[in-house]
Amino acid sequence: MTSEAVGPTPAATIRQRASEVHALQDIAVDRRTPLEAPVLAEKAVVGDAPEIHRLIQYWFEATGDVLPRTEGEIYETIRDFVVVRDPSGDRLLAAGALHVEWRDLAEIKSLVVDPGTQGKGLGRIVVDACLDEAVDMGLKTVFALTTTPAFFERLGFRISGVSAFPRKVWNECFRCPKYNACDEIAVTIDLRDRFTT
Ligand SMILES: CC(C)(COP(=O)(O)OP(=O)(O)OC[C@H]1O[C@@H](n2cnc3c(N)ncnc32)[C@H](O)[C@@H]1OP(=O)(O)O)[C@@H](O)C(=O)NCCC(=O)NCCS
Repeated sequence: MTSEAVGPTPAATIRQRASEVHALQDIAVDRRTPLEAPVLAEKAVVGDAPEIHRLIQYWFEATGDVLPRTEGEIYETIRDFVVVRDPSGDRLLAAGALHVEWRDLAEIKSLVVDPGTQGKGLGRIVVDACLDEAVDMGLKTVFALTTTPAFFERLGFRISGVSAFPRKVWNECFRCPKYNACDEIAVTIDLRDRFTT
């Protein structure tokens, strides 16, 4: 058996590889900026999967701030997702997923806001909805791996080390294309601090 040399994986290579794997042609995102009416987070339905996928792919291609997901992966985990819809109901403005990792631990994943509606509180709405759901489920801690820790800190998360989440490392990080060149920072929130006062 030959051993394959493993070295740092350049982001461009990661993106190229994912583009080939996912064979995505259209990552155009509507840049209209509405928000003339209040919006709410709600649980995703299966029909949201293509739009969720499009937003994730947009950000993966544009900045690499989220990891790519196949449309199939999104259908498989659709019950993890919350979404924010345009008040007219015809498109998604934001999405994010709460994924249970263990009896007391969940992760916020695939958090994406339409680029035309950033900075309007939609990311906060999605994260708050995920945290509410986590509390309802009896979870004590929620974490995220992110390139934008400052956003999560504004929402009450604290920076921690990914080594605090060994199951995550064993279950998923080892299969991640960024494993040898990870640029994500772990942030965590103790839900007992947030919701029991
Ligand atoms: C990061 C992202 C989810 C933030 O969503 P958003 O709707 O633009 O942010 P919000 O308007 O809800 O901001 C909430 C707070 O965080 C702050 N904030 C938002 N983005 C920030 C950033 N990049 N750095 C620091 N603070 C940030 C806002 O100023 C606001 O603070 P305030 O309440 O004190 O005014 C969104 O910009 C996005 O989808 N980015 C690309 C994908 C990505 O990075 N996803 C996260 C990967 S885990």
